[in-house]
Amino acid sequence: AVGRPLAGRHVVVTSGPTREAIDPVRYISNHSSGKQGHAIARAAAAAGARVTLVTGPVALADPVGVATVHVESARDMLAAVEAALPADVAVFAAAVADWRVAEIAGGKLKKGAGGPPSLSFVENPDILATVAKKTAGRPGLVVGFAAETEAVVDNARAKLARKGCDLIVANDVSSGTDTFGGDMNRVHIVDAAGVETWERQSKDAVAEALVSLLARRIAS
Ligand code: C5P
Repeated sequence: AVGRPLAGRHVVVTSGPTREAIDPVRYISNHSSGKQGHAIARAAAAAGARVTLVTGPVALADPVGVATVHVESARDMLAAVEAALPADVAVFAAAVADWRVAEIAGGKLKKGAGGPPSLSFVENPDILATVAKKTAGRPGLVVGFAAETEAVVDNARAKLARKGCDLIVANDVSSGTDTFGGDMNRVHIVDAAGVETWERQSKDAVAEALVSLLARRIAS
């Protein structure tokens, strides 16, 4: 229907940071606010979709009318995404920690004679690549994000191929852009056909424009 171009569709969105435990009281994370991912979930719901939002810890309220699943670690996020499938569209806006601590200490690490602890890391699963490379049950449209500080479009093109997704939303997060935590975003939409650069606009406006684009793509 007009105005509800995603009616009858299921959209899965990831948002926010992940949190990787060091010990029972400490963790490693990043500055993702979840604003862009949550805005996409809201815009998809407004376009008529059934939306599952899988989010790491954020200071934002759960969007109204969206099934929101709260997770902490990257591994939890992957499990929640797998549980939410099948979907028509999947948008991976979360800033997933690339690494987790190899062995989470069972008790709080203590200061003392041994000096500071050394942490060793192992790679987290890549949620976007895992879903984009599925041979059975792959969503019709898989969208990734790229937070880059340099060669934004070239890096996004490489990422599109490496991850196996259909579209990359590349944003420039170099210092001064205020993308992390801010309300504004300037993005480049990169796909196999080329690049489109959108004017700097609010994250809500980016979300609405992205959802219209996805609705047009999924319909054709
Ligand atoms: O490789 P990079 O982290 O720059 O890729 C960013 C894109 O991949 C984002 O869409 C992000 O949500 C997704 N991603 C993921 N799982 C990871 C790392 C990144 O889904 N472990």
